[in-house]
Amino acid sequence: MTATANDIDWWRDAVVYQVYIRSFADGNGDGVGDIAGLRGKLGHLARLGVDAIWINPWYPSPLADGGYDVADYRAINPAFGDTAQAEALLREAHERGIKVLLDIVPNHHSDEHEWFQAALRAAPGSPERERYVFRDGRGPDGAQPPNNWESMFGGPAWERVPDGQWYLHLFDVKQPDVNWNSAEVRDDFETTLRFWFDRGVDGFRIDVANSMIKQDGLPDVVEGVNDEQDGNHPYLDRDEVHDIYRSWRRIADSYDPPKVYVAEAWVPDPERLARYLRPDELQTAFSFNFLRAAWLAPDLKENITEAIAENDAVGAPATWVLSNHDVARHVSRLARKPESGRGYQLDDLLDLPADLDLGLRRARAATLLMLALPGTAYLYQGEELGLPEAENIPTDQLDDPTWVLSGHTKRGRDGCRVPLPWSGSSPPYGFGGSSWLPQPPEFAACVADTLDADPESILHLYRDALMLRKAHPALGGGELTWKDSPEGTLAFTREPGFTALVNVSSAPVSLPEDAEVMLTSGPLTRYGAVPADTTVWLRHA
Ligand code: NOJ
Repeated sequence: MTATANDIDWWRDAVVYQVYIRSFADGNGDGVGDIAGLRGKLGHLARLGVDAIWINPWYPSPLADGGYDVADYRAINPAFGDTAQAEALLREAHERGIKVLLDIVPNHHSDEHEWFQAALRAAPGSPERERYVFRDGRGPDGAQPPNNWESMFGGPAWERVPDGQWYLHLFDVKQPDVNWNSAEVRDDFETTLRFWFDRGVDGFRIDVANSMIKQDGLPDVVEGVNDEQDGNHPYLDRDEVHDIYRSWRRIADSYDPPKVYVAEAWVPDPERLARYLRPDELQTAFSFNFLRAAWLAPDLKENITEAIAENDAVGAPATWVLSNHDVARHVSRLARKPESGRGYQLDDLLDLPADLDLGLRRARAATLLMLALPGTAYLYQGEELGLPEAENIPTDQLDDPTWVLSGHTKRGRDGCRVPLPWSGSSPPYGFGGSSWLPQPPEFAACVADTLDADPESILHLYRDALMLRKAHPALGGGELTWKDSPEGTLAFTREPGFTALVNVSSAPVSLPEDAEVMLTSGPLTRYGAVPADTTVWLRHA
């Protein structure tokens, strides 16, 4: 059967729901999310109205970095299920019209991957070591790391092995970087892509898609010279990385319908990011500048405009996202003063006072903004429940390697990875027998079953918004036209007949004349004005 245009282009305006499988739903009651739990909640996702899910790594892994340390790319971690369950999930999701994306981690393996184990056993200079980045150290006895690169989690990016050589790990010490100059490495990743595509997987999210290529000679990072990702950084966004994606795209296009990629590439310059989306490369890449933008009208407008323009130039849709498993949940980010330049991780925010009611109001407004924009949108599990960040997980329960590698100075990302509250009135809120990370007291107000019974809840807002987005001919793909609007607000139209007004100021603003309200992120004032931190979707003639 030949694919229809809709099958081929679904990703241009899709709403994709991110499943952090460890914390989504627990089917066997051991306190850890799993495939059985996910299968049991497909009804929740179908009712929400999402087009696809992206599942974080579910492969065998020692979980030193939440599964981004993959020991075997073509199998399932027994803690999450098995291949038969994965196949059943794919079937059941597809029956409900939900596509399934997996996560591929091409920059590094787990140190428990059989190739790395073989490399440790092998001698310096051996073909086994050639699959990784092994080097001799500096200094007379080689006791200094080969260069000054630092791990993204803190500390040097090099670890010494007993025979004296060092291996590169841009992330945790248990995540050795692979060598993309090795044909074996390239072939093996392509085999993995085909393995899952052949089983019906619809696409992949590509982890740190901008880091795989390292500059020949592995030169030091020089402050003042390599501060930008401009193609000259020794390991970030090097131009040679694009060849990999041209080859991956050919594989995706060999399927009917073609498979799809989304790049996780924290490349700040939208023009450089758009290079990943040239017609023979990837189809989509997260526009993280939107996530990073302060809750201020000029910042939001600038980032949205830039992302759309740069993506348009290569014929790709923008890909919006407010939260994921690496950043503080947006309820908690928006609960703080919208200072430009503040980071987006919990450790950047902890010293700022938080007003979670305000955060929730803004989160609802931000969601209606995002879902009204042209392009595709990613939701992170639990945002439809209005979950805040868990800010006080006892430090002895922290699991993110950031805590240890930062010398116990940064809490890291566990606060957004806490198991979801599904039902009941006390922890673990129907998650399972217990939950592998403790749920904070604020989750009591975010339980899915309770929100389901309340038509004013954020859960209903998400469902209403997704339903309208699907039904309305102006929403999804297409164009946006900015309109003049009072200071501190954003207004744009989408044709035919749709206007969004986002009030990011601190005072109410009037509705445009002749506008008919379709959906609001919160109640209007009693005079029918749009209060601060509220978005309205309007029908215009
Ligand atoms: C990005 C992933 O989203 C993050 O969770 C992980 O720690 C790093 N890449 C390394 O794989």
